[in-house]
This record gives sequence, structure tokens and C-alpha cells, in this order.
Amino acid sequence: MTTARTAACVLAAWVLVAAGLADLGSARAPLGSKPQREFDYFALSLQWPGTICASTRHCCATNGCCRSEPLQTFTIHGLWPDYDDGTWPSCCRRTQFDMDKILPLKEVLDKYWPSLYCSKSGTCFSGKGLFWAHEWEKHGTCSAPVVQDELQYFTIALDLYFKYNVTEMLSSGGIQVSNGKEYALSDVIDTIKHAFGGSPQIVCKSGSVQELRLCFDKELKPRDCLTTSLTIGSVSKSKHCPRYITLPTYDPLVLANSTVEVMSQFDEFELYGVVRKEIWYRPDMYFYRDMLYMLARNKKINETRQVWADLKSEDVLFDQHTYGDIVRAFCDAGLTDLAMEIYEDMRSSPDPPLSLPFRVILKGLVPYPELREKIKQDFLELFPDMIVYDPPDTLSDIDEEFKF
Ligand SMILES: *[C@@H]1O[C@H](CO)[C@@H](O)[C@H](O)[C@H]1NC(C)=O
Ligand SMILES: *[C@@H]1O[C@H](CO)[C@@H](O)[C@H](O)[C@H]1NC(C)=O
Ligand SMILES: *[C@@H]1O[C@H](CO)[C@@H](O)[C@H](O)[C@H]1NC(C)=O
Repeated sequence: MTTARTAACVLAAWVLVAAGLADLGSARAPLGSKPQREFDYFALSLQWPGTICASTRHCCATNGCCRSEPLQTFTIHGLWPDYDDGTWPSCCRRTQFDMDKILPLKEVLDKYWPSLYCSKSGTCFSGKGLFWAHEWEKHGTCSAPVVQDELQYFTIALDLYFKYNVTEMLSSGGIQVSNGKEYALSDVIDTIKHAFGGSPQIVCKSGSVQELRLCFDKELKPRDCLTTSLTIGSVSKSKHCPRYITLPTYDPLVLANSTVEVMSQFDEFELYGVVRKEIWYRPDMYFYRDMLYMLARNKKINETRQVWADLKSEDVLFDQHTYGDIVRAFCDAGLTDLAMEIYEDMRSSPDPPLSLPFRVILKGLVPYPELREKIKQDFLELFPDMIVYDPPDTLSDIDEEFKF
């Protein structure tokens, strides 16, 4: 994290210098019929994952709510140019979001500026896209003359976020993340005011903080937000903050413990579907290995074929030892046809063959002499100097090494 912070700050410094040297002309006219005038101030909008993620029902790789470690700090929503009259410009210049332009920031953005939803965001110019595309096209393009381009937009936002750590300010003021604990809204506001140097704007959802906004003038110095509109009157009731508010935590919707352990409590294949479709997981070798063990044990042939097709489509590669273990599991279950199909896959895998997995398989094939003879021939061709101990000599228990 220190590295990330340094990277962002270095970049920010660089970009700010560039901005200072640039011609600070007036905001360019937008596309539409009525030009949008230059903005008055910035709001750095931060979101409280504890409030938003509590209603997460579906997971996907891009949803920050689905990380196994719950997010316990404010994350970035966006840097928004605003007018002093309470309105704001949007979609100002036709410059489509381009991920390549902010590639150096990707890791930092993933960490501190995640989307907290799975759905794609509407954008001004490129239809639908990433959360970042939405923020850049809708708000970033209206940030001239302070912000010149996409990279600078994200860099400035990150820099402000690192410089003014709201989570830190609140906890230093005795306002901690905790389920259920209520804090006076006025204390929250005063704590930020004191630490930051300007009044924040706070948006709530059912009495919990959903967003907290810090405001900056065009020199990026702290200033007051227009607090009246949100904390007192005109805002819709649901976003209005009551006198006492909470900063809740949430339980992430992911598989926390080992796949096998968790899945053993369910009908395996049903859960497999849930895991693949609804819960974010890394398609990795161990997930599939465990899944296949389970299917073998329960003799689920059709399901195995489907899982096999899925892992092929996701380019999951097993190493030779894992292949050996999986083939063996299917032999042990008496599903020799499947075992042989998987064995063929093992043979055509790009990794060089190893003798040990062969021995694991040969031992599993002892009850199937014909098949065993075939695999034995393969083994002897691949490893001409080695010996296969035929039963009953295959007593040395190589299985010991292959417990999972
Ligand atoms: C902000 O402060 C919190 C609490 O001290 C800390 O956990 C978090 O890493 C900080 N965030 C950044 C971006 O420095
Ligand atoms: C995961 O493990 C922890 C402790 O080992 C336990 O408290 C928790 O209930 C487990 N979760 C699941 C889903 O099994
Ligand atoms: C497996 O698939 C075959 C052919 O697709 C089908 O006939 C059979 O009923 C399926 N078996 C089970 C248990 O679903």
C-alpha cells in the first residue's frame, strides 16, 4: 500500500506540474446545444462500503463488495465538478474513456476506487462501461481547466484521497467502524471539519452513512461543501441523514473457507453452479480439482463432463501431479471411462510427463488389468529405464504423498 500511495503521489505531482504549465483557458464548450460554464468547486465523493455492500446479492470479479476481506475504509466514488448554486455540469467533452491511458494506476484504482456493484455503468459517450468510464465521461470531462485529461483526473482524485484520509480522521476523532453503534451526525461533521478544514456533505441510507463528500476549491484547497441541501432540507427522505447515524460493517458474500469444507455441506453440483454463476471466485486449479474429486466420489458423470468443458473454456491448466490425482480419483470411483478421458488430456498437456503421476494412476488401475496394461505401455515408452511393479508387488504405498 505504501508503494501504491507513493506511486499515486509521484504521478500526481508530475501531473500537477504539467497542469500548472498548461494554458489555463476557460472550460471548453460542451457538445450539446447549451455550453456548460466552468465549474466552481470540486467534491471528492467517497462511499462507505459497509452500507452499500450490505445489500449485495450477486458477486462478480469487479465488485469490491465481493472481496473476501470486507472493505473497512471509505472508497472513492468520484471527483465531481460542481456549481455553487447546487447544480453541476456533466458529459462536457466528447472524450471516451480509455483504460490504456490510466493503466499505470490500475492496481491503485482497483484497490481504492472499486465499483461496489456488478452492473455496468452508463457513460456519456461509450454506452456502458466500467465505473471509471462513467466517472471520467460524466464528471471528469467537465473538470477543465483544472483537469486536462483522463490520467490527470484519476491522479488528482487519488492524490486527494490519500492526502485526506476520512476513515483515519473519523477514527482519530473516536468514530469507529462498528455495527450498530450510533454517532451524532453533528459529531461526525465536526470531526471532519476539524481535521479537514471544511464541512463535508453526508448522504445516508436508512440511517447509515452511504457517502461522505469533501469539497475543494480550484486550487485543490479544502473548502465547505454545500451542506444544506443534503443534511437538512430538500433532499429525498431516503438520503437524508437522521441525527444519529451508523458506519456499519458487512459480511462479504464469498466462499471464505476451503472449497471442500464448505461444499461438503451442500449438494455439490448445485453449489458448483452457485459458485460459478453468482459468487466471485478465481478459476483456479485447486477449485476444479476439489470439485472433480467430489464429483468422482459421488459418481456424477454428466456433471463431470460439464465441469471439464467449463475448465477447458477457462483455460485452467492442471500440473501433471494434479492430473494424476484426478485420474486416480475417477479410477477409485470406478468411472474408468472418464478416468481415461482425463488421462488423454493429461497426455496432451504441454507439461512434460512425470513418472510419479503415472504410478499413482497405475496403482488405481490394479482392478482393471486391461486398462492398466495400456497405461503401463505408455509409461514404459516414456520412461524406458524405469520399472513397473505389477501386482501384488505394488505394495509400497505411494498414496501417502498424495493426500489432499
Ligand atoms: C486510511 O486510514 C485507515 C485507518 O487508519 C487505514 O486503514 C487506510 O489504509 C488508510 N487509507 C489510505 C488510502 O491510506
Ligand atoms: C470458516 O472458518 C471459520 C474459522 O475457522 C469459522 O468460524 C467459519 O464459520 C467458517 N465459515 C464457513 C462458511 O464455514
Ligand atoms: C446424462 O446425460 C445423458 C445424455 O446426455 C442422459 O441420457 C442421462 O439421462 C444423463 N444422466 C443423468 C443422471 O442426468
